[in-house]
Amino acid sequence: MPRELSLAEIFQLGYYWETKILLTAVRLDIFSALDGKRKILSEVAVCLGAHAQTLGLLLNALVAMRLLDKDGDSYGNSTAAATQLVRNSPQYIGHLLLLHDAEWDNWGKLEQTIRTGQRSVDRHVFETDPELGTNVLAVLHRIGQQSGPDFAKRLQLSGPVRLLDLGGGAGTNAIAFCQVYPDLTATVFDLSATLRLTERTVKEAGLESRISLLPGDFNKDGLGGPYDVALMSDVLHYQDFSTNAALVKRVLAHLVPGGQLVIKDRFLNEAGTGPAWTTAFAVHILVNTERGGCYKTTDAMQWMKSAGFSTVTELEPSAAVQGVKAREE
Ligand SMILES: C[S@@+](CC[C@H](N)C(=O)[O-])C[C@H]1O[C@@H](n2cnc3c(N)ncnc32)[C@H](O)[C@@H]1O
Repeated sequence: MPRELSLAEIFQLGYYWETKILLTAVRLDIFSALDGKRKILSEVAVCLGAHAQTLGLLLNALVAMRLLDKDGDSYGNSTAAATQLVRNSPQYIGHLLLLHDAEWDNWGKLEQTIRTGQRSVDRHVFETDPELGTNVLAVLHRIGQQSGPDFAKRLQLSGPVRLLDLGGGAGTNAIAFCQVYPDLTATVFDLSATLRLTERTVKEAGLESRISLLPGDFNKDGLGGPYDVALMSDVLHYQDFSTNAALVKRVLAHLVPGGQLVIKDRFLNEAGTGPAWTTAFAVHILVNTERGGCYKTTDAMQWMKSAGFSTVTELEPSAAVQGVKAREE
């Protein structure tokens, strides 16, 4: 049994003041205003077009949160803020925090959603603000570059494999697979708006000759191929159960005999109570998408079995499932 929570820990779970202070600071772009130059309160206020006295309260809280420092009357960025929260820094992660802030009002409707079972959003923020969506993908790409190659190695591929990275986003996985397997070529299939970013990341990786980009809606449009391996990484939680089942079936038709589909996602355990991050992510998907859901590995295995994959296995608990297409049709 896990140990009981202390009173302090319960308070901490219910405490969001600092969260909103940080998100507001990123929206106001306070850290960029202090980039490379210390400023006193009135200078920051002029720079942001903000009310000085109230801004002072926010800046002081940011000092206490170790994102700013204060020396006499002047404020400056901490090293962490200068690196990660200044807009023109190559390690800027603010887009991800701006996404959380854009979803703030949806979280306010959680009680109503739970009472009625009715979702309160009809479009995901990525659809209403594609620029924010692309910026967030760029941040996730930078973070994902570290884990991509390890996952690619786990599949133990060999030879001239043709990979389909379905909903491949910034191409993080396709790039990692090309780096791990020198004879592999990849197709990143995604919405045309997203592929503008992918074009940049593939070029930065110097892989234009091995990674091609295919624009379209994966639920409706042709997927090209045939492919030896298809990957769906973090795409299925935006869709409902039956749409996912239909998509898995479409993918099977684009694989060669003996080809495989790998679904990598944030799966819940059978009880639905873990992994801890994923249980909260499931609530996030509930309040921020029209039809999405967090699924179990058994759901993904069921999509594969119903589609007609001959061998279906869990590659990694709560993380990856593999289906292999029969060699003889
Ligand atoms: C969370 S991202 C995952 C990106 C990438 N697979 C990864 O693991 O980093 C989801 C991706 O699915 C794409 N996507 C969502 N719906 C799509 C659709 N109907 N057709 C094609 N791509 C879609 C989005 O544009 C986005 O790039």
